[in-house]
Amino acid sequence: MSHEDGTRVVRAGQPESDQGAPFLPGPVFAGPFHLKGEVASSDWVYTRYGNPSWARYEAALADLERGEVVLFASGMAAAAALLLTSLRPGSVVAIDRDCYLNVRRLAQSHLEPRGVEVRLAPHDELGRAVEGADLLWLESPSNPKLDVYDVSLLAEAARAAGALTVVDNTTAGPLYQKPLDLGADFVLTSATKHLSGHSDLVLGYVATRGAERAQPLRDWRRDAGAIPGPFEAWLSHRSLATLAVRLERGSANALALAELLAGRDDVIGVRYPGLPGDPGHDVARRQMSGFGTIVVFDLGARERAERFLGAAELVTEASSFGGVQTTAERRLRWRGDEVPEGFIRLSAGCEETADLVADVERALDA
Ligand SMILES: Cc1ncc(COP(=O)(O)O)c(C=O)c1O
Repeated sequence: MSHEDGTRVVRAGQPESDQGAPFLPGPVFAGPFHLKGEVASSDWVYTRYGNPSWARYEAALADLERGEVVLFASGMAAAAALLLTSLRPGSVVAIDRDCYLNVRRLAQSHLEPRGVEVRLAPHDELGRAVEGADLLWLESPSNPKLDVYDVSLLAEAARAAGALTVVDNTTAGPLYQKPLDLGADFVLTSATKHLSGHSDLVLGYVATRGAERAQPLRDWRRDAGAIPGPFEAWLSHRSLATLAVRLERGSANALALAELLAGRDDVIGVRYPGLPGDPGHDVARRQMSGFGTIVVFDLGARERAERFLGAAELVTEASSFGGVQTTAERRLRWRGDEVPEGFIRLSAGCEETADLVADVERALDA
């Protein structure tokens, strides 16, 4: 019998029930494993080559992504693996200008000097930028502006141009969007965010279809040593069981906050794909099954944004998103995104909706 994702996450990657055994076996801490004779005689030889705690979590994620999953030490380790296994001197990569700043920096600081042409293009020019490219890299919804792209359309344009498509799915995650089903060749997700969900670790993965696409990434991970720790893999796997309920509450809170913010005339530029008036709403409804926990808005000036962040009791000022606590930051403090001084990215957590809305309202009035 097939079940919804929200049911499958509860047991995903857990072994068959076995009398007296734990539901999810604990992390396997090992450098080397006992290994007598030939290397091929054992699945586990040395943790840089593979570890049972990663394998179990990868199996759980593969079930959700309906593909192969390769787990990495962080989202950026996964991004680096993808870029470096796909591109070589003379290759061309077209990158969404609004994508995560470290991905842009990685491409510009480390690939460009090694002979890769890096084309940064705004959302509406990506279709043109991919002409003659080997790889198209996009995020939807994008971080930080929350623009929504038609993934099927762009993946189709990339395929016609002979390029592979990578979708950074970190803001939506595997429960709310399945880029492989929309035509992407690779999906990158920072599991640091909603997947682990408790702001206590850094982890990432790539999903793809077919062993021949996954193997170069596994080889890269082994050779570059971009490996996840067994404890991080286990902790994030443990959090997976509550992913659907955390997202449900976080998304309901995000919608309530977006409605509050959009209704105020002292807040501008509110973006949340779940708002019927949002420019990305129609496409988001087609390609996402939930709108997520992130809301962005502009308080007009740096001072007001800082006052808001200082006044809110239930909004913790921090970077990142996807945790059980509501967090927010004035994005421009990082320098590197094309957003206004008063631009705030807020990630709604699992607090009671009424408490959170009242707190944000009070902080806006401060
Ligand atoms: C959209 C997006 N992609 C990738 C990353 C990188 O992930 P990590 O911090 O796990 O390396 C981030 C981190 O904030 C992100 O927001």
